Amino acid sequence: MWKTYTGLNPHIKEVLKLIESKEQSEIVNDHIALRTFNHKKVNKNKLAEFFVNSGYNFVEDLHFDQKKLDASYYVHPDDKLPRIFISELRIQDFSTEFQNKINMIIDNIDDKELSDPLFLTNGTPWEKISYLDYKKVQDESDYAAWVLSHGYIANHFTVSVTDCTFFKNLKQINLFLKQNGFEINSSGGEIKGSSNIGLEQSSIMAKNILVKFSDGDFEIPGCYYEFAYRYNGFDGFITNSANHIFESTNEKKA
Ligand code: NI
Repeated sequence: MWKTYTGLNPHIKEVLKLIESKEQSEIVNDHIALRTFNHKKVNKNKLAEFFVNSGYNFVEDLHFDQKKLDASYYVHPDDKLPRIFISELRIQDFSTEFQNKINMIIDNIDDKELSDPLFLTNGTPWEKISYLDYKKVQDESDYAAWVLSHGYIANHFTVSVTDCTFFKNLKQINLFLKQNGFEINSSGGEIKGSSNIGLEQSSIMAKNILVKFSDGDFEIPGCYYEFAYRYNGFDGFITNSANHIFESTNEKKA
């Protein structure tokens, strides 16, 4: 998953290199996030099967009414393995045209495409959509437009700043990345959460990458990198913080 994610988004590797240039210790991954739709063929439970079959355990469901999506996360008994965070968009909460488009695309997936766990790194198991459709879907949901154009790849990996030795907090790592030309997602403030609730998160904004559509190649937001700092062994996620982090792949409106 790391290979596909960084192959498509070379800036993620640059960020890691910058962090590694300061850190003595090995960088620990806090969690990997995946995105999908609540269609029975590809919903979050379906994506989770591969992780559950590899020993991951379900922890909790989270609900994001404003973003019209739900998520679940999973942990592995081997705590060196990252948490897995899978969200799914509530298709039924959108326009009829939107629902028909998404359902048609997913209905047409060949089940064989979804039987190999590698489909989680293979991108779109459906035919390339048109850029026109991408824009239409994006009018209703940036999240849906992201999933339709990129398919199944990691949406983000997350540096556990808790495990860093050079970087003591998110403020320091955010400043360092800004000084190196990266944009920090400032929706809801650059740092989401607090020590009181047990978790602080920040992220760089996704950079635009060239993606193939049925009618040509276009630059659209790719993936981002997240940073997490956990306090007092807090192991979960905070709905209000994640709400803002989701916006890291939003396209800038002119
Ligand atoms: Ni995350």
